[in-house]
Amino acid sequence: MEAMIRSLPVFADLRAFLAWAESKGDLLRVPEPVSLRHAMTAVQVAALRRGGPILRFDAALQADGTRAAMPVVANLFGTPDRVAAGLGLARDQIPEFGEFLASLRSPAPIEGMRDAFSRWPMLRAALLTRPHIARRAPVQQVTAATDLTQLPVQTPWPGDAGPLITWPVVVTRPFDSEARQVARYNLGVYRAQVLGPDRLILRWLAHRGGAAHARTWARAGEPMPVAIALGADPATLLSAALPLPETVSEITFSGVLRGARADLVPARTVPLLVPANAEIMLEGWVHPEDTAPEGPFGDHTGYYNAVESFPVMRISAITHRRDPLYLSTITGRPPDEPSVIGEVFNDLALPVIRAQIPEVRDLWLPPAACSYRIAVVSIDKRYPGQARRVMLALWGMLAQFSYTKMVIVVDADIDARNWDDIAWALATRMDPARDVIVLDSTPMDYLDFASPREGLAGKIGIDATTKIGAETTRDWGQVMALDPKDEAFAADLLARHLPGVQ
Ligand SMILES: Cc1cc2nc3c(=O)[nH]c(=O)nc-3n(C[C@H](O)[C@H](O)[C@H](O)COP(=O)(O)O)c2cc1C
Repeated sequence: MEAMIRSLPVFADLRAFLAWAESKGDLLRVPEPVSLRHAMTAVQVAALRRGGPILRFDAALQADGTRAAMPVVANLFGTPDRVAAGLGLARDQIPEFGEFLASLRSPAPIEGMRDAFSRWPMLRAALLTRPHIARRAPVQQVTAATDLTQLPVQTPWPGDAGPLITWPVVVTRPFDSEARQVARYNLGVYRAQVLGPDRLILRWLAHRGGAAHARTWARAGEPMPVAIALGADPATLLSAALPLPETVSEITFSGVLRGARADLVPARTVPLLVPANAEIMLEGWVHPEDTAPEGPFGDHTGYYNAVESFPVMRISAITHRRDPLYLSTITGRPPDEPSVIGEVFNDLALPVIRAQIPEVRDLWLPPAACSYRIAVVSIDKRYPGQARRVMLALWGMLAQFSYTKMVIVVDADIDARNWDDIAWALATRMDPARDVIVLDSTPMDYLDFASPREGLAGKIGIDATTKIGAETTRDWGQVMALDPKDEAFAADLLARHLPGVQ
């Protein structure tokens, strides 16, 4: 399918992506000293809000005022266009790629899957390609001292507990697997608090792939090997951040995005294969029962998290390139980098949602509502009660809506991504006593301090659709609209009298 032919070069590593961005004027080198404590966050936030370029801080300052040993790269995916580029696509190809992802989720073998593979043959080839196991790897050019304090790790916000690794790609596999079984690996992005030279905390939330693997090792009473790739290539970073189906390996999938299979190398001190082209690799072990209180840290909600215990990783080796770059980001009240990534993922997820709930026209997770706490969905409404069915389907069928506190359902003539349109639908098509459902004691993440009990919260569904059939006994309003001929006449008239005014 022509539209899916990759128009971008293969980004085998982070630096290839940076060079490409720089050639397009989308990378800013910052020669001034910038402190890793708080000041760098301010620059990142300001750049992101302006839709600004990737930042490369060449003189990052450690907390003690000394200059960091390596540059810090930030705001990598600060615009939707860069997220799309990291996926190997132009922005307008995202919906079609979402359809391919939807077909991957269908239980095989079904027609949809076969059809998808016939339309995207090169993607199929990529999915079936085994990773390449390298004998030498850029990420192992230098074996460094096992000292995390040598890395330019940001302390992003004033109330943060300490330095926080913010863009780690955490590589794990389950207990009953072997190192060569790459298809069983999980890659996830879980922030990591640095506790000391050779200890950090892995904050994988309980429902994440890394946490599921940790439970298998803990049940066996065995220490778990873990590797953390810092400064991975864009395809690996985004595969790790994407909620892929359990059956699809992030490593293999990164090959689809990259347009070239993954290069892996055996880690030096743990039985894992790791991304060979990353900038820095941290290797180590998580021992059952070894936990430490994590945080507080500023999070994507715009608040500091409560302190919670998470597993400790003991570092056994640090390797890196000869001239490594340290990749960082910050999470804060949206917009932040993860919320920009979330906007693009919203469009990728839409075909998956439509496959489950066909009447869904569009679905928007407003970034301002932390990318998942509010959903607005437009539907082709055909029968009474349908809006409620859609709400319950979203909450009941799709895990990613477990923490969505509010679902607003609107008709297909409403732009579900436009607050003015949503407000008009709420103001004119919704009765608070009739059109609201409230559920009690449903799952919620511990980050939501507004929930009365940790992990349990209410949900609200608002039906702002036109009421039909038994939903109302009254005559419904008729939407006013002008004849398109008259509108065209008006546009022409104004264009003649007011040239230059759109
Ligand atoms: C910058 C960034 C930071 C993240 N931090 C965390 C985190 O601290 N803990 C967590 O569980 N998920 C975090 N996530 C979300 C997960 O990485 C993401 O949901 C991913 O799909 C999880 O993969 P998994 O389903 O294989 O576990 C973060 C994502 C990004 C992009």
